[in-house]
Amino acid sequence: MDQNSLINRTNLLSGISPYIYGTTRLGDDKIPFNDRVKIAFMAMEAGIWFHTSHQYNDALKVLRVAFDQDRTKVPKLIIKLGGDNITGLRNYLHQNLETLGLQKLDIGQLCLGGDIAMEFANGGVCYKEFLKLKEEGLVNRFVMEVFPWTSETPLKALQGGYPKGIVDGYIFYLNPLQRFASNKLWDLLNKQNEPIIAMRTVSGGNVHRLRDVPGAAWKEYLQKRAVEVAPVFERSGIKNWTEFCVRFAFSFKQVRATVGSSSKVGNLQEFLTAKENIKPLPQDIMEDLKRLQYRWSDELDIHAEPWTM
Ligand SMILES: NC(=O)c1ccc[n+]([C@@H]2O[C@H](COP(=O)([O-])OP(=O)(O)OC[C@H]3O[C@@H](n4cnc5c(N)ncnc54)[C@H](OP(=O)(O)O)[C@@H]3O)[C@@H](O)[C@H]2O)c1
Repeated sequence: MDQNSLINRTNLLSGISPYIYGTTRLGDDKIPFNDRVKIAFMAMEAGIWFHTSHQYNDALKVLRVAFDQDRTKVPKLIIKLGGDNITGLRNYLHQNLETLGLQKLDIGQLCLGGDIAMEFANGGVCYKEFLKLKEEGLVNRFVMEVFPWTSETPLKALQGGYPKGIVDGYIFYLNPLQRFASNKLWDLLNKQNEPIIAMRTVSGGNVHRLRDVPGAAWKEYLQKRAVEVAPVFERSGIKNWTEFCVRFAFSFKQVRATVGSSSKVGNLQEFLTAKENIKPLPQDIMEDLKRLQYRWSDELDIHAEPWTM
């Protein structure tokens, strides 16, 4: 890759708010509907981007009510577009836009399976279809979703140079406890300076809670990782886990934003505070975390069955 291509990558996925409000917590029906609308509206008033999906229970309904309270404050959105073929993907797109009362999407997150994932890996017809969606004014930009068990698809695609000019970046779990691109893909993303959107900012909550409270970590491996990460967090001297996590994400130069969710005013406020004047973490702290993530990836992640982690 020549120097110009590397520099051009720097402009991709620009203009996104560094903290994106994730909306899974808006789908929690244990929380009164109106309280969820209120927290969504608070995030809208902060002027940040949102990330959503029709898969988050009735989160889209909550968003629609919040959006209709003041359409001038409707945020820019990343929405998951799944499917095994382009027809399925278009259906998801229209379903989401109609439910939210929108005409177009700022960033489509490609969650590809079946035939269309094969096309993506091999430079197939899907790229023309993505361009068509842009030309029709329905989707402005695309990012490709990655999991440990799907990393081979973007890896092959990038090696072939197919996504260039059509897919602007990669979106996956990237927080102190998780880095959901395989080591091989991660190395290539770094080498090519590919833009990244980091997901699950705080990895589900405070690291001491994940470590110490039975059931707080939704899988056992996360509790075990919290045991390893907590001393590194403590050594940093940073008091606030949210701040630590936001700084972790932005210690990687290609990260454009981190996506975190909350249903609580105080926790949302912590994300909003942490996004101001973000400083990368000290190098020795990052080296320790990076070392752990390389090991976890080889030991566990790449062997995991889909959706088990
Ligand atoms: N494949 C995908 O596309 C995919 C997958 C996963 C996630 N995502 C996106 O990423 C977003 C974030 O993911 P996530 O919700 O799984 O992870 P997260 O943002 O790391 O964690 C959210 C959880 O942490 C709690 N929390 C937030 N701030 C906290 C704080 N300061 N102290 C203690 N607890 C805190 C929240 O509870 P409270 O509500 O009580 O604050 C919630 O239970 C999602 O909403 C979604 O938009 C996308």
